[in-house]
This record gives sequence, structure tokens and C-alpha cells, in this order.
Amino acid sequence: MEVEKILHMKEGLGQSSYAKNSSLQKTMIAKSRPAIQESIRELYHALLPESLMIADFGCSSGPNSLLVVSEIIDTIDQERQSLNRKSPMFGVFLNDLPGNDYNAIFNLLPSLYESLQQEKGSDFGPCFVSGTPKSFYGRVFPDQFLHFVHSSYSIHWLSQVPKGLGSKTGEALNKGNIYITKTSPPEISHAFFAQFKRDFTVFLNSRAKELVSGGQMVLTLQGSIQRDDPDSIWELLGSTLHNMVLEGIIEQEKLDRFDMPFYAPTLEEVRKLVEAEGSYSINKLETFTVDWSVDTNQSLNNRAKFVAKTIRAVTESILATAFGEAVMNDLFVMFEMRVKERMAQERSEYLNIVVSMIKRDYS
Ligand SMILES: C[S@@+](CC[C@H](N)C(=O)[O-])C[C@H]1O[C@@H](n2cnc3c(N)ncnc32)[C@H](O)[C@@H]1O
Repeated sequence: MEVEKILHMKEGLGQSSYAKNSSLQKTMIAKSRPAIQESIRELYHALLPESLMIADFGCSSGPNSLLVVSEIIDTIDQERQSLNRKSPMFGVFLNDLPGNDYNAIFNLLPSLYESLQQEKGSDFGPCFVSGTPKSFYGRVFPDQFLHFVHSSYSIHWLSQVPKGLGSKTGEALNKGNIYITKTSPPEISHAFFAQFKRDFTVFLNSRAKELVSGGQMVLTLQGSIQRDDPDSIWELLGSTLHNMVLEGIIEQEKLDRFDMPFYAPTLEEVRKLVEAEGSYSINKLETFTVDWSVDTNQSLNNRAKFVAKTIRAVTESILATAFGEAVMNDLFVMFEMRVKERMAQERSEYLNIVVSMIKRDYS
């Protein structure tokens, strides 16, 4: 499976689009806001740049893409006013894979420019926003070009499904599952971690070349308490697919050969990989939890519906490629029922990691 060609959030503005089903990810951005603001204030005070280059990696499409940008610009504008300084010029770069629905963001740009002009007056900016479609697992920008890097809920996606998920004879080792589960053999969690380690190190190293010395980066991603028992939503999605195999809707072989190109690291894994890469000092590294349904005051039915729609908007491109478009409705109806059963029995939360770091000065 060529992840970089297949993975994209559900495009457009329809009922099932990512734009309409990304309030979970919006909550993650809100939870990371204090870390983002702290980092950007520190950056501005330390460097006082006349032009400020900002990149959001894995921006996707819909309201979240420009939300982060507006918040970063607001923070800088407040800081420069409090220091009585001229506004910097802003270069804002929205990065995602080439299959991302960039038009859905670009259509919102005229209203962003207009509101910036109205709210901040004629001495603001100017601000130039552009798209940079390319995998973030590799170089996207020239040397020492960026001042601030942000990425939310994106770098837990791997560049490829890990290798090493089959036995020497080619038999699938993670049969009936699509991610690490309690019953997976140890080779499985090792293979997922090994792929994350490679990808995350490439990400860190590429950004280190692109950031100026003293540049800052804030990353938010899904995490796990334990590598070999991540207690993830993919276990439930995997068991739903397994049920569809038992009902003869999906071929066993297809499920056995399918795994999610995803890894949710532990806090310690993130710390060790950042330290091992060596280009950054960590300012902040912490976790927070968010309920699968975000709002636990809603009815169980509404909460399960929310979870199923959120997961569908994110994974449909991958799952439809593996199992066929025709089974998607059935899959998500069954998944919603399973989510409801599970949430009725126990608390179901995403563990998330936010890490804020500064690029070391080598001069
Ligand atoms: C769940 S969305 C998060 C989007 C947005 N940051 C938000 O908070 O709503 C994850 C995004 O990461 C992007 N992504 C995954 N792997 C990528 C890669 N290798 N390079 C660039 N973008 C990638 C996906 O295409 C997707 O748009």
C-alpha cells in the first residue's frame, strides 16, 4: 500500500467530509494552545524577526487548517504591539500530502485576509499563505528558512505500513488485527515502533535543516501508555472488520494482509528519539487525554455516532482501497454499534502527547 498516494482525509464540505467531522482534532489544537503560545512568544522575543516563516505540517482541509494559523498570527501580533514594534511580514506554509483537498482551504483565504486587515489594521503584515504539497518525511523547505513549525494529529501517520509483519514463509503474523493489540506477537509492536523511529527521525532531521537556529517546533500526536498494549480504537475497528470476515462480507486474506500505517508512541519513546536525533532541546513534553467522543454529556447514541463519523472521515480512503468502497457503509454502521457497547462499559479516551522544542544553536 502506497500510503502517501492513498491517505487523505475525506475531501469537500459534505456531511461526511473531514471539514465537517474534525472537531476531535480541533479539541487537540485547543488543548495544545498554551504550549503553542508559550513557544511562539519565546521565539518572537528571542529573534524579533522582520519576516516570520511559519509552517503547519499535515494541515489537512477545513476549518482547523486556518484556525492554527490565525492563532499563531494573533499571538505574534499581541507580542509585537506590547513591545511597540512594527509588524513582521508573515509567510505561512500549509503542508500536506499532494492528495489533500487544498482547494477547500484556499477558498477560505480571501475571508482570512479580509478579517486580518479589518481586525489588525493597515500596519499589520502583510501575510502570504501558500500550500506546499509534499510528504513531511523528507525536505519540504530550503535550509534555515522556517522560524516556527507546528503539526497536530499528523505525525502518528507512518510513511508506510511497517515491514516485518509477516513470518519467514510470508504468512501474516498479525492475523485478524489491523494494529498492535494485547494478543499480537512481540514482533508486531517492534515492527511498528521501528517504522515510527525511522519516520520520526527523518521528520526531526528534515525540520532541523529547515529551521533557523533558535526556531521552535510544537508537535501534538496520539500516544500510548504502553507499546505492546496501546488500548487503541484500532483494536475495535479491527474486531469489527474481523466480524465482517466471519459474516462473509470481507475476505479473510484481505484482513490478514492489512495493517494501519499508524503508530502512537509512548512519552518516553518521543523523548528518547528527540534526544537521539540531537538537533533540539525539549522545552515541554506532556500528555493529556480526550474522550473518544470529546463531549461526555451527550447521549451514548450521539457519542458513538460522533466517533464513527470522525474515524470514517480520517480512514475511509485507506480502508476503501483495502476492502472496497461497497462495504464502507456496513463497516461504519457496525463500528458505531461496537463503539457504543464499549463506551457503555468503560471510559474510552485518546492519550495525546504535546512536545515543544527549540532548535539548538550551533554557532
Ligand atoms: C487527522 S489529519 C490532521 C489535520 C489537521 N492538522 C487538524 O488538526 O485538523 C492528519 C493529516 O496528516 C496528513 N499526513 C499524513 N502523513 C503525511 C505526510 N507524510 N506528509 C504530509 N502530510 C501527511 C494527512 O494527509 C492528514 O491531512
